[in-house]
Order: sequence, then structure tokens, then C-alpha cells
Amino acid sequence: MKWGIIELKISLDYAKISGFIETERINSIQEKGYSLHRILQHKTKEECAYLGWLNIPKDISESEIKRIIHVSENIRSQSDHLVVIGIGGSYLGARAAIQMMGGESTNHDLDSGYKSNRVLFAGHNMSSDYFNDLIHQLEGKEVSLNVISKSSTTTEPAIAFRLLKEYMETKYGRQEAARRIYVTTSKDKGALRAMADREGYQSFVIPEDIGGRYSVLTPVGLLPMAVAGINIEQVLEGARAAMEDLSEESLEANHAYQYAAIRNLFYAQGKTTEVLVTYDPRLFYFSEWYKQLFGESEGKDGKGIFPAAMNFTTDLHSLGQYLQDGPRNIFETVLNVEKQDDSIILKATEDDVDGLNYLSGRSLDEINKKAMQAAMDAHVAGGVPNLVINIPDLTPYHMGYLFYFFEKACAMSGLLMGVNPFDQPGVEAYKTNMFRILGKPGYEAT
Ligand code: PA5
Repeated sequence: MKWGIIELKISLDYAKISGFIETERINSIQEKGYSLHRILQHKTKEECAYLGWLNIPKDISESEIKRIIHVSENIRSQSDHLVVIGIGGSYLGARAAIQMMGGESTNHDLDSGYKSNRVLFAGHNMSSDYFNDLIHQLEGKEVSLNVISKSSTTTEPAIAFRLLKEYMETKYGRQEAARRIYVTTSKDKGALRAMADREGYQSFVIPEDIGGRYSVLTPVGLLPMAVAGINIEQVLEGARAAMEDLSEESLEANHAYQYAAIRNLFYAQGKTTEVLVTYDPRLFYFSEWYKQLFGESEGKDGKGIFPAAMNFTTDLHSLGQYLQDGPRNIFETVLNVEKQDDSIILKATEDDVDGLNYLSGRSLDEINKKAMQAAMDAHVAGGVPNLVINIPDLTPYHMGYLFYFFEKACAMSGLLMGVNPFDQPGVEAYKTNMFRILGKPGYEAT
């Protein structure tokens, strides 16, 4: 068997694309794949100035990991809440990780580890209602801040930090506030670095050769994860396993490259929208992270697959109709978390008034999985191919693996598409307009 489910920790199953793409066509991408793999591994092109993420699971030093854990323990003993200030790649990875490991809407107590709302977020929007609610939530609580920005120039987190710094200094005084503010930024550039040096804030470095959306496995993601109680050593172990597994140059042996190749084959067929489908609400923010990763990496030069996301079965009752019968320019990639709690069992009732006795004895998880099978078959029959990424379990290890898998797949997919997957020149346009409208000095005539 040359192609099929590869027995790796996280596997790609493309049985349900056979009616849309012949597997030989995937082979046809191999030659291009080899040369792009060499570009990635040997950093032979200009865009490869941003390839630090490729080796970060191994390059991050033991002393850095220990320091992150040590600081996270201090924050946990010092504060009820850590407010993480950041946007885009300086925010979504941590948020995705914390939700994946715990679930934001569950009522676990604060000390049960990451199943908590210990970590709160700011600086990813400019809503004053959101900000007021946050301040309200902090009332009577001990607080620390982690401001994250590689450039230090991003408006949303810069404004949030100015407001929250003032809040902290009013609440604690300048000296104590300084002991509770942690900065994650560039090694030697920008306002945050200067402030950290001036005020004596503890700080962490975002490596120059790692762009924001590829930075989840640096202190950007790892410090908030550790504060939330996630075992970051296991996260990195999973990422290292992925790094090892996905270093194969052959598409046949590398499921991230297979995924990248299949995406490009769909794109060439006019399938310009990918819907990342989840059946587990814990993956909602992972989908948000995925949207940024692929959207900013591929959407340029008039090209790109539009990265959308849906949470089933919820969205089957809102967008299911569109998927089934709308334009056929869509493919789905389903994230299937195999191991789930199967202890919730439906019992039979005497009157069976709701007609559900036929399900008695079955677990909620089994019913969810059958819904997945049913939706996939229906969508495939309706002309929407489905890829499945099987995730054995949602543990810190698998999460580290998953982040790395998607980063590697995204890099290869962008390169196959012929774009630079590591820059984001288009993001500047709205900023320039906003600065002009707000009257920022130097932007009057733009
Ligand atoms: O991927 C990227 O580089 C961007 O999305 C950034 O992460 C985002 O704009 C935030 O940038 P910064 O960390 O400089 O504030």
C-alpha cells in the first residue's frame, strides 16, 4: 500500500477524496515537493529568513523552558489572573492551547490546573465593553500582565497595555506593578524592550527568525500555557515528535506534505475554500489559529485558499445547507479527536415520548461520531470532498504535535502555491488608513 492512513501519532485519512482526486495526482507533486523541502530544510531562499519555527521544539534550551516554568509558578502564586495582551500570532496560539486543554465554558475550579479561567485576554480587540467587563472581572483579584508583541508597534495591544499598565500602577504602585508585568518581545528592538529595560520588567524573547503566526511554541505561547497549568514539556515533546516524523522529504512518508499537496490539487480544481470542521468545541480557538496561519500565509498575490471553520454539529443547523447544496468550490478538513469521554449514556424511558429509546445504551460520544460519519458521507455525495485528520487524544503532547503539523503543512502548501508563506504585506493597508484617520504623525498624507 503506497498511500493510505499513515500510522503516525496524528494521521491523515483521505479515503473520502478518491472520487475527486486520483491518488496518482498526489504523486505528480512529488518532484516539486522535493525541491521545496530542500528550500525549507536548507534555508536556501530569501523567505527562509523566517524559518526559526522549524527547529524551535529542539532549539529552545532547557534553561529557557525551566525559566518559563519557574516564572509561571511565580505568576500562579502571585495572582488569580494573568491578563495576556496580544493579537494575531501573539495571542491565538495560547488561547487555542488553553481552550483545547480545558474548555473555557466549563466550571472547573481555579486550582484544578488549566481547566480554569486563570488566563484572560486583552489587546485583541478595541471594544470598550469588552475592556470594562475585563476590569470588572479583575475586581478584588490579584493580577499579573503578560504583554506580547514582537514589533511593539501593533496598535490594539499597545493601547491595551497603556490602559492596563495604568490600572496596575494605580492598584499596586509602580514598583509592585513592575514585579507583575512580564514582557515577551524582540531581543533588542522596539518600545516594549525599552520599557522592560527601563522599568525592570521580566522579559522573554521572540526569536527574530520566527513570525507571529508561527510562534506558538516559543515563550509567546508557552508562558501563558504554563500559567494555565499545561505541561509545556509535554507540548514540546509532541512538537519534537512531529518535527521528527515530518522531516521526511517524500510525500508518501510525510502526512503534512500530503495534506499540503492535496490542498493545492483542490485549489487547482477551483476549490478555493477550505472548511476546517471540528466536532469538539474545545477546538474552536484552534480553528481561529488555523485561520490566521493559513489566511496570512497563503492569501497574497491574488492567490490563496480561503480558510473557514465550522463547529459541528452546531453549524450543521446553520451552514449545513450551504455545504450540502451551495457552490461546489469547497473542501472540508475534519479534525477527528478519537478519544473522548464515553461515560455519558442515554437511558431508556418507559413512555419513550421523545422517541429516543432506539439510542438507549449508547454514549453521547458514539452518537456524535455517527453524526460525523453521516455528515461526511452526505457532503461527499453532495460534491464536497472530506479529508480527515485523526487526533488520537487531546493531550498536551498531541497538541504540540498538532501545532507543528499545521505549521509544516502551511509552509509547504504556501510554497507549492508559489507565495511566500512567511510575510503579510497586506495587513499594513488598513493600519496605514487607520493611522491617517486617527492623525498619527507621519501618516497625514498617505
Ligand atoms: O503573523 C504575524 O506576524 C502577525 O499576525 C502578528 O502576529 C500580529 O500582527 C501581531 O504582531 P506583533 O506581535 O508584532 O504585535
